Amino acid sequence: MASSLQGRDLLSIADLSADEITAILDSAAAAKSGADLGAPLQGGSIAMIFQRPSNRTRVSFEVAVHRLGGHPIPLFNPEVQLGERESAGDISRILDRYVDGIVARLVSHRDLVTIAQAARSPVINALTDSEHPCQVLADCLTVREALGHLEGARVTYIGDGNNVCTSWIYAAALSGVDFRIVCPPGYEPARGVLDRGEALGGREVSISNDVEGALRDTDIVYTDVWASMGQEAERERRREDFRALQVNDALLAKAPGARVMHCLPAHRGEEITDSVIDGPRSIVFDQAENRLWVQMALLALIYGADTPPRVDALKGPVGAVA
Ligand code: CP
Ligand code: NVA
Repeated sequence: MASSLQGRDLLSIADLSADEITAILDSAAAAKSGADLGAPLQGGSIAMIFQRPSNRTRVSFEVAVHRLGGHPIPLFNPEVQLGERESAGDISRILDRYVDGIVARLVSHRDLVTIAQAARSPVINALTDSEHPCQVLADCLTVREALGHLEGARVTYIGDGNNVCTSWIYAAALSGVDFRIVCPPGYEPARGVLDRGEALGGREVSISNDVEGALRDTDIVYTDVWASMGQEAERERRREDFRALQVNDALLAKAPGARVMHCLPAHRGEEITDSVIDGPRSIVFDQAENRLWVQMALLALIYGADTPPRVDALKGPVGAVA
C-alpha cells in the first residue's frame, strides 16, 4: 500500500499527522536495525540548497539519498545566491526540471514556501528561521529509544523559543508529549505557534522561567544554542539573558534521572557544559545519528517503492500539498 507521504512536501511538522510521525519513526527504527528500505531513489537526483552552514543535515541527507539509490547534489549559497543572483521561485523552477526533489536549508521560511509552490517534486525543510522538522523527527526517535515510548514523555526545552522549539511544539501536540518550555522573558515562541500547537493537540504547552518546577519530574532536558545562525551579532546580549539557564551539573541535579539532548552544534561552555554533554546522561550523539535513519525513512516514504521518481504529477497541481 502506498504511504500517505508519497509525493508530499515536508515544510513543517504540522504538515504531518500523528500516524505519519509514527510511520516515519517505525521505518527509521527498522532501518537502524538493519531493514532494507530498498532503492526508491534509483536513477533519481535530489538537489540540496544550503543558504546556511551545516554538518549533520548535509552529510546525513547526502548519505541517505545515496543509500536509497539516488544522487545528492549539494548547492551552497555562494553559488546559488538565493534572492540575489536569482529569485527563490526561479531557482526552484529550474532545479525542478533536473531533479526529483529539493532539500533546502534557508534563512526565510517564506522562501521555502515559494520554492515548494514552484516545484512539482517534493520539497523538504532542512531548517529555516521558523522550523527544523527533520531534526525534531530524529529527536522523537531518540526519545522513544531512550524511554521506550514517545506518548506521555516529559520533555523540558530550555532555550530560545525559535525554530527547533517550534517543531517540537507541533511534534509534541501530535504525539502526546508533555512539552515544557523554560526561557527568559522575551524569548517565548510566537503566540501563533502556540495556538497552532494547541489546535493540533488540544494540550497547552507550559512556558515559564521556573527551571526547578519544570525539571522536577522531567524525562528529558533539551537545549539548543542561545544565538542561532544569523543571530551572531546578538551573542553577547543573549549570553547575559540566558546565563541562568545553562545546562550544567547544578541544573541537571534538579532533574534526577533525566537524559540530556541537544540538536547540535553545541556552544560548549554557553548553553551546555562539557561535563553534561560528555556525561553519562547525554544522548546527544545518538540523537545526531538518528538524523540519518529518520531522513532515510522520510525519503523512502515520500518516494515510495511503487512510485518511480520523476513523475510529473508527484505533487499534483503545481504547489499543492496533498
Ligand atoms: N542539528 C543540525 O541541523 O546540525 P547542522 O546545522 O550541522 O546541520
Ligand atoms: N536554533 C539553531 C538550530 C541549529 C541546528 C539555529 O537555527 O542555528
